[in-house]
Amino acid sequence: MAKNASGTATVSRPGGRDAAYALTIRSATVTDVPVITEIFNQGVEDKIATFDAAHTVTQRQAWFATHGTTEPVIVTESSGQVVGWASLSQFSQRSCFDLVKELSIYVRREWRNKGVGDVLMADLLQRGAEARLHKVILFVFPSNLRGIALYKKNGFTKVGIFRNHGFRDGEWLDSMAMERIIDSNGR
Ligand SMILES: CC(C)(COP(=O)(O)OP(=O)(O)OC[C@H]1O[C@@H](n2cnc3c(N)ncnc32)[C@H](O)[C@@H]1OP(=O)(O)O)[C@@H](O)C(=O)NCCC(=O)NCCS
Repeated sequence: MAKNASGTATVSRPGGRDAAYALTIRSATVTDVPVITEIFNQGVEDKIATFDAAHTVTQRQAWFATHGTTEPVIVTESSGQVVGWASLSQFSQRSCFDLVKELSIYVRREWRNKGVGDVLMADLLQRGAEARLHKVILFVFPSNLRGIALYKKNGFTKVGIFRNHGFRDGEWLDSMAMERIIDSNGR
């Protein structure tokens, strides 16, 4: 992945599952919050990604304000359209966990399963390494096979499953915890 001086990366995936395309990756700005919210809410609607209900842009603005160099938010664009985003967020307010961050990643519905998640993940882990973070954790529904495949191929391993962990739509659902240490190369 080639990066220019401003930290913008341009990525090509020729010969992928679909026609070749280029993605531009950059840090998110506050003006991206509406599209970040829109893509997050697609994951909520599809019932595959999160226990959360749909967020408002105002809620997401408050979330965005808690992010920075050690809690990056990135977006990836194709032909000027944001097609996915990813973030590292504070995992705990206890200082012993300062260098442990929780990953979120959401790809626009019609762009899923085309390699966008892979591209976001590589850039985010690189930023985590540059910020000298120690570990990234995440929580995923055991039924989210595409997400789990993405995480495994990017070095995450299963920690375990919280049984009956969150209540959604009238039932208790399991949640799988995964983790990976990030070294100085982001891999
Ligand atoms: C999960 C998500 C981020 C993955 O991003 P993506 O761009 O779709 O993923 P990629 O195309 O980079 O990789 C997906 C991998 O899953 C594999 N996959 C797809 N469907 C699968 C299935 N049913 N079972 C197993 N593997 C599957 C693909 O083959 C691919 O692996 P490969 O590159 O080795 O072939 C994206 O699909 C998404 O936003 N989903 C909705 C929101 C969500 O679930 N977020 C994560 C919450 S924990």
